[in-house]
Amino acid sequence: DLPARVRIHEVGARDGLQNEKSTVPTEVKAEFVRRLADAGLTTIEATSFVHPKWVPQLADAEQLFPMVRDLAADLPVLVPNQRGLDRALALGARRVAVFASATESFAKANLNRTVDESLAVFDPVVRHARDEGAHVRGYVSMCFGDPWEGAVPVPQVVRVCRALMDMGCQELSLGDTIGVATPGHVGALLAALNAEGVPTDVIGVHFHDTYGQALANTLAALRHGVSTVDASAGGLGGCPYAKSATGNLATEDLVWMLRGLGIDTGVDLGRLVATSAWMAEHLGRPSPSRTVRALSHK
Ligand code: HMG
Ligand code: MG
Repeated sequence: DLPARVRIHEVGARDGLQNEKSTVPTEVKAEFVRRLADAGLTTIEATSFVHPKWVPQLADAEQLFPMVRDLAADLPVLVPNQRGLDRALALGARRVAVFASATESFAKANLNRTVDESLAVFDPVVRHARDEGAHVRGYVSMCFGDPWEGAVPVPQVVRVCRALMDMGCQELSLGDTIGVATPGHVGALLAALNAEGVPTDVIGVHFHDTYGQALANTLAALRHGVSTVDASAGGLGGCPYAKSATGNLATEDLVWMLRGLGIDTGVDLGRLVATSAWMAEHLGRPSPSRTVRALSHK
């Protein structure tokens, strides 16, 4: 009852690097994305076309994107509004992602809007993107718990997911932004989404590993039929606007588990570990991924 193949949506270059204290040089970012593609990752979130003052680490999106856009991988980018979409489309982006929140506190902190105000911003953005033939992913943050509001009721999450699907998103990503989810909660949300007519095959899961639950939560989602999993190389990541958000599920930890389960990902684990070890040197600290530590020998 597990999927035969899992598509990994690699977020290290975006979710990972957006949260680094130091700003990584554009050339290093481009090399990172190239190496990720070389390791067999086929969906690599490259950067964000957000306000440069809100996320200075990704303020070089205009310079970076043309350096990687011809790689043989899908390169989705984040767009928070029409301005972001215009910037992304002008550079030839073919995949974009809007990012909503299930909670008011995070919508305010991350987007400077209420939940409904931000959905109203996204609606024409999604339509314009689809009219231009772009693929649109809709993220939903704080699907399980929120640092200000505590546990998030499932129906509140379902409402935002439904709204994103209704405006034309082709894929959802369920974000456990602060890593508090546990497997039973994951199953309950997926079942509630199915009951509201959201099919499992449009759902991706996006777990941060703050409490060490990301892999267990991923397995729960796979058992439910989910086959798109977000992860970041080396476990880089976090969110600058959510206190207590740490790195994402490490791609290496995910690949190790999937390989053991006989599930194909197309990723060369050795090359990926080497890439994360290389990036860790640039960042001046070791990767938090247990698999990277176990497999990198120096
Ligand atoms: P705002 O200040 O309300 O913006 O920010 P505004 O609409 O009032 O515009 C103010 C000025 O910003 C205007 O310029 C706009 O043109 C400019 P002015 O006319 O004053 O000269 N502006 C822009 N410039 C460049 N690019 C743009 C853009 N938009 C407006 N796209 C805004 C609202 C949404 C822009 C801001 O809040 C923002 O950029 N937020 C992004 C925050 C962010 O990137 N967070 C991290 C990503 S989400 C995440 O990590 C979670 C996820 O991983 C899933 C999970 O783990 O849960 C996806
Ligand atoms: Mg995230």
